[in-house]
Amino acid sequence: MLKGSVVPVAIAVLALGAAPARGQNVQFAGYPEGPGMDILRTKCRVCHVPDRVKQKGREKDDWDALVHNMMNRGADLTDAEVPLLIDYLTKNWPPGNADEAPAVAVAALKPMAAHITADFREWDVATPSARPSGSLAASDGSIWYAGRTANVLGRVDPKTSDVKEFQLKTPDSGPQGLAEDKDGNIWYTGSAKALVGRLNPRTGVVTEYPMPDAAARDPYTPAFDQKGNLWFTLRDANMVGRLNPVTGDLTLRNSPTPKSLPDGLVVNSKGVPYFVESGANKIASIDPDKWVIREWTLPNAEARPRRLAVDGNDVIWYSDHARGYLGRLDPKTGDVKEWASPGGATSNPYGIAAMNGDVWYVESAGTPNTLVRFETSTERFQVWNIPSGGGVVQNVSVTRDGNLAMAESGVNKVALVEIR
Ligand code: HEC
Repeated sequence: MLKGSVVPVAIAVLALGAAPARGQNVQFAGYPEGPGMDILRTKCRVCHVPDRVKQKGREKDDWDALVHNMMNRGADLTDAEVPLLIDYLTKNWPPGNADEAPAVAVAALKPMAAHITADFREWDVATPSARPSGSLAASDGSIWYAGRTANVLGRVDPKTSDVKEFQLKTPDSGPQGLAEDKDGNIWYTGSAKALVGRLNPRTGVVTEYPMPDAAARDPYTPAFDQKGNLWFTLRDANMVGRLNPVTGDLTLRNSPTPKSLPDGLVVNSKGVPYFVESGANKIASIDPDKWVIREWTLPNAEARPRRLAVDGNDVIWYSDHARGYLGRLDPKTGDVKEWASPGGATSNPYGIAAMNGDVWYVESAGTPNTLVRFETSTERFQVWNIPSGGGVVQNVSVTRDGNLAMAESGVNKVALVEIR
C-alpha cells in the first residue's frame, strides 16, 4: 500500500511579493515586460485596477510624485522597488501616450491593520504528474493531497520533508476532495468511480463506500460535521450526500436547482452544511435533521461561486470564479457584499479559507497564481506570487497552528504557507 517514499528538497522562498521566483516567467496580460511589471502586478492592484497607469502619460518627475502619493495611501513598496517602478512607468507611459479608458472612481480606503509576511515552502509530490487537487492540513501537522491522475493519496511531513503515497483500491477512482475524521483517518471522494473512501494512514488499508444510485456520479467535496457524519457534494449528479461512517447509511438528495453543479462544501459551527452551486448564482444550506435545502440567490446573475469558507461568526465567504470577485454572505440577514479581486475579472478566484479575521484565496488564472489575503476589518488586500506558479490551486486549508496548506495541481507540488 505504501508506494515509495521520496525526500525532495524543500524550497523555502521568502515571498517578497514582487520578486519573481527563479525559473518562472511571470506574465501580466496587457502590460509590457520589464523589471517594474511584477511590482505593478503585485503591489499596485490591491486597491484599484492597474489600468489607471495607462490613462495618462507622465514625465518622470510626475510618475515619481504619483508613486509616492500611492505609497502615502498605503501602497506597500520596498526602497528597491520604487526606482524600478518609476523607470518602468516613465518608459512605457510617457506624456501623450495614454489609453482613452475612462477613469474609475476609487473610494478612500482605511490603512491595512496588519501587514503579514507569508513564507512559502513547496514539495514535489511523489508521483510526477499526479495532479494533486484536494489538500488537507491534518491534525498531526502533516499535509495530504489527492493525487488525481495517479490514484493515490499523499502525505507530506513538513518537519522531515518525507513524502509518502498510498495507492487507492479501485483503479482510476479520481480522488478529488479530502477530509479527516476524529481518529485521524483520511477520507476522500473518488469522483471518477462514484465512491467515497477511507484511508487508515497507519495500516494503509482503504475502505470504499460506493454510491447506491447509478445517477450519483462525481462525489466532489467532503466535510465532516461535529457528530462524525461525512457530507459531500456530487458535482455532475447535481446532488448532495451524507454518509454515517458508523452505520454505513448513505443519504442522497438533489440540489433544488437543476444542473447547479454543487461544488465546495463546508460545515458551520452549528453543524449545518453549506455548499456553493457553481452552475448557478446560488449558495445553499442543508438542515441536517429535516434535510430541507435552502438556497440564497446572489445578486449578480453571472456569479458562479466555486469554493467557500466559513468564518468564526458563521459568515460564508465565497470565490466567484467566473466574475473575479470575493463575496460574503451572512446567512442570518441574507446580506451579500462583494469585492472585485485584485487580479480583475479574469483572475479566477478558486481555493479559499478563513482564519483570524482574514480571508485567504488563490487567483488561479495568472502565471504565476497569486495568494490573496483579504483583511475583513479594513477591506484591504495583500497579494503574493506563488513561487512555483501554483498551477491552479483548487483548495486551501488551514493548519492547526494558523498556516495554510495548498495543493498545486498543475505544477505537481504541495505548499505550506507560513504566516507571520
Ligand atoms: C492603498 C490603496 C492604493 C494602492 C495600493 C495604490 N493606489 Fe493608486 N489610487 C488609490 C486611490 C484611493 C486613488 C484615487 C485618488 C484620487 O482619485 O485622487 C488612486 C489613483 C491612482 C491613479 C490615478 C491618479 C491620477 O491622478 O491620474 C493612478 C495612476 C494610480 N492610482 C496608480 C497606482 C500605482 C502605480 C500604484 C502602485 C505603486 C497604486 N496606484 C497603488 C489607492 C491606491
